[in-house]
This record gives sequence, C-alpha cells and structure tokens, in this order.
Amino acid sequence: MSIKAPEIPTGAFTGNPAKDAPPCRLGVNIDHVATLRNARGGVHPDPVRAALLCEAAGADGITAHLREDRRHITDDDMRRLKESISTPLNFEMAATEDMLNICLAVAPHGACLVPEKRTERTTEGGLDVAGQHNLLQHKIARLTDAGIRVSLFIDPEEAQLEAAVRLGAPVVELHTGAYYEAAMTTTPASIKMEFDKIENAARLGAEMGLEIHAGHGLTFSNVQNIAGISQVREVNIGHFMMGEALFMGLHETVREMKKLIADARTGCLV
Ligand code: PXP
Repeated sequence: MSIKAPEIPTGAFTGNPAKDAPPCRLGVNIDHVATLRNARGGVHPDPVRAALLCEAAGADGITAHLREDRRHITDDDMRRLKESISTPLNFEMAATEDMLNICLAVAPHGACLVPEKRTERTTEGGLDVAGQHNLLQHKIARLTDAGIRVSLFIDPEEAQLEAAVRLGAPVVELHTGAYYEAAMTTTPASIKMEFDKIENAARLGAEMGLEIHAGHGLTFSNVQNIAGISQVREVNIGHFMMGEALFMGLHETVREMKKLIADARTGCLV
C-alpha cells in the first residue's frame, strides 16, 4: 500500500509554454474544513484557522463558497475570513439577490459567480453566462461598483468567453472538471481533447482581455499541466488539498502545491 497521493493520468503534455510567463497564484478553497466541522456541529475544525495556516504556508488567496443550503461555509465564516486573512478573499456564490446582498456586506476582494444546484455534490458545470446575460448584468455591475472584482466560473468555450466580455467581467475561471473526469475515466485522446479546450480558451480569453483563472479537480498529478498554460494566472484548489492535508498536513500540502505550480512556470515539469 503506497502512502503517496494517488497518481491520475493527465495526458503526456510536454513542452514549456509557461516559461517566462508571470507567476500563477494558488487560491486555496477551505470549504471542506467546514464540511468536517459541520459533521459534528461544533466549532472545530475552524476554516478560518485553516485559512490562516494556508496563508502562512504560502497560499496567495483564500476561496470559500457560501452555498444557498449552507452545507459547509456559513455567513459567519465569511465575515470572520474577511476580518482575519491578509490575502485576497474570493467569495464564491450563486448569482442570487440574497447572496449578492451578503457579499456586498462582507466586501471581499473578489466574487466568483458559479451555478448552483441543491442536489449536486460539487459545482458540476460552468455558469451559462451566454444564456443568462440579463440576469447577470445588474449583479455584476453592483459588485463591480462596490469595488469587488468579479470572476465568472465558465466552461472553456468561446461563446462563454465572449459573453463574459460583453458583461464586463474582468476575470473568468475555467472549469477544469471535465479534464479531471476524463483523466479518471477515459482514453488519452479524450484527456488531450479536454486539455486542449482549456488551453485554447485560456489563449482566446486572454486575447479578449480577460484574466484567466482555472479550477476544479486539480491535484498534485494534473496541476502542472494547467499551471503550465502561460495565460492561467490563478488556480483554485480545494478538495484534493484538504484530503491530502490529512496525510501530509496542511502546511506541507500548500507548500508542495506551490512548488509544483512554480516549477510549471519555470519549466521544471516533473
Ligand atoms: N473553483 C470553483 C469555482 C469551484 O466551485 C470549486 C469547487 O468548490 C473549486 C474551484 C475547487 O474545486 P476542487 O474542490 O475540486 O479543488
């Protein structure tokens, strides 16, 4: 039995597209510390303590998703995160009126708009920005007017990128879930196809003037392929890191992820 993190196939991508690219930041999503806390109801383990530890280990930002069903992060967690952390807080939320008001009150650095279904285990697909222009427009405007940087969590598709530009969002986060799923279940050709979609969307989006982030399903095995795309300026990672923290500790997990990302930028792919 290996005591190392399981390896997943990620496609044999070679080359060094990110050499000389600006750094890629690591945003750590601490939702699942709250999942564990809520399993017993009390105050331990505290996601704010985890966030501070992630920062001390080198995380460049903290992400938390206040879901409508409050299954992990709570309103109070969001307020405490904003008061306590010193790196940017990325407030993940559904584009509802209620969430908008809470987010405006917390006043985080950024807000990432995501689709949300009560029955899903995690955010399953990207936000249909192209199909929801009218619904999103005034929400994005209100967040932007309040000085909150809006990012839209989208599938890596040209129509969604174009819609994000029309809505005036400065940032998109490309959903990497299909790439992760392909690696778990399908052939090298489909893994490559999903990777190519992300790489193309990152290039196109950057050409359109968008800042490109990426996230979902990233692990020690696949992060270098994504952080190796020169236009990707931030990756947001949660579930794998919290799981790995059980074995390596949170500090070491953050440090290792940071190192893998930095190496992908300098061409030291492992
Ligand atoms: N980015 C966004 C917008 C997400 O919704 C999530 C999942 O909450 C993540 C990143 C992190 O995904 P994972 O937990 O699979 O690393």
